[in-house]
Amino acid sequence: MALTILDPLAAAIDAIDDVAQEGELGAQSRELATVEHDLELVELPDGRRIYPPRVFGERIDDVALNLLDLDDPAESKFLRLVGPPGTGKSQLARVIAYRLWQKRGREVGERHGQPFYGFVEVTGGPTSDSYSPFVCEFVPSREDGGNVRMVDSAFIEAMVNGWTVMIDEANAINVMALLSLNAVFDGRLSLYSPAEGRSVVAAPGFTTLLAYNPGLLGGSDLPSAYYSRFPATLEVTSYWPALLELGAPEALVNAARTLDTRRLNGDDGLVWTPQFREIEALHAMMTRVGERTALALFVSNLAERVGSGDVQAAEAEAACRMLDEAGYAPYKVSARSQVPALGGYPRAVTR
Ligand SMILES: Nc1ncnc2c1ncn2[C@@H]1O[C@H](COP(=O)(O)OP(=O)(O)O)[C@@H](O)[C@H]1O
Ligand SMILES: [Mg+2]
Repeated sequence: MALTILDPLAAAIDAIDDVAQEGELGAQSRELATVEHDLELVELPDGRRIYPPRVFGERIDDVALNLLDLDDPAESKFLRLVGPPGTGKSQLARVIAYRLWQKRGREVGERHGQPFYGFVEVTGGPTSDSYSPFVCEFVPSREDGGNVRMVDSAFIEAMVNGWTVMIDEANAINVMALLSLNAVFDGRLSLYSPAEGRSVVAAPGFTTLLAYNPGLLGGSDLPSAYYSRFPATLEVTSYWPALLELGAPEALVNAARTLDTRRLNGDDGLVWTPQFREIEALHAMMTRVGERTALALFVSNLAERVGSGDVQAAEAEAACRMLDEAGYAPYKVSARSQVPALGGYPRAVTR
């Protein structure tokens, strides 16, 4: 009898699964898995060439723009970009800002000698406090020899002018500094500016993005207001098709992609695997100094990161097996050779 009391729940779950299998849900997920898209290129005004990655076939920059309310930024759903370093979070933020700038019909200008399209970055560190870097900054005053002057932070400037601001490496910033934005993130996007002595409210067009690596060792938890203001969480992974487009060897890209998939699936406790930036750099070094030297430079970089605790020994070994899979095993040396090596690959040691 006890079984029949529990059964209706199990039966309901089975029924839901059956519907998903037979009906639209199942058909749709099969379709999404097989759709291939042409790469589309966005050329940023500063010359960077970015291929925006996709989620379920839709360009991320389109998704990001659709989450925004251009008239009332307080109604916008802001994006949280999470992922290891070198996956493309900063590039993606730039593409989003540029697309938004174009959509609003703005001209590319200039700021600090660089092309400007309404994009600013703010980051801090363990010594940031409840003013800096988000509320105000202190700059030496030219008129008043040696004294410092309080000016609006880039964050406040972005609020006032309706720009996109990316808070980078958010979980490496002192929590005191993050809390200074609580008034912005748990309310109507307003903040008191000590430099101007008044409260400012985010102007139409204002957008903010958070970016960080959740796997950062010693990283802090974000204040809860941040989670509610940035409900749209995007797990950014390296966009491997773009790397192929840039001419990186297919076997290397495939091996990196396979290893990265294991990380994403939580296999073997891998938190770090080589990402877009590392594989792009390895490819560039191979083109310039040849495979053998480039591999040694790559491996010495790995060895140092293991030494500093930035990369775990098991992650470095997995990266070396990735090189095996990519077909570079002939460059390995035997343990008897006494050549300093990591995972069998000789390190770049001068002698
Ligand atoms: N989608 C992409 N298209 C073109 N290049 C990319 C792309 N994603 C990453 N890259 C390259 O990888 C590097 C690292 O990207 P970045 O945005 O700085 O990573 P993150 O901010 O996640 O650390 C960039 O300098 C760029 O060369
Ligand atoms: Mg970055």
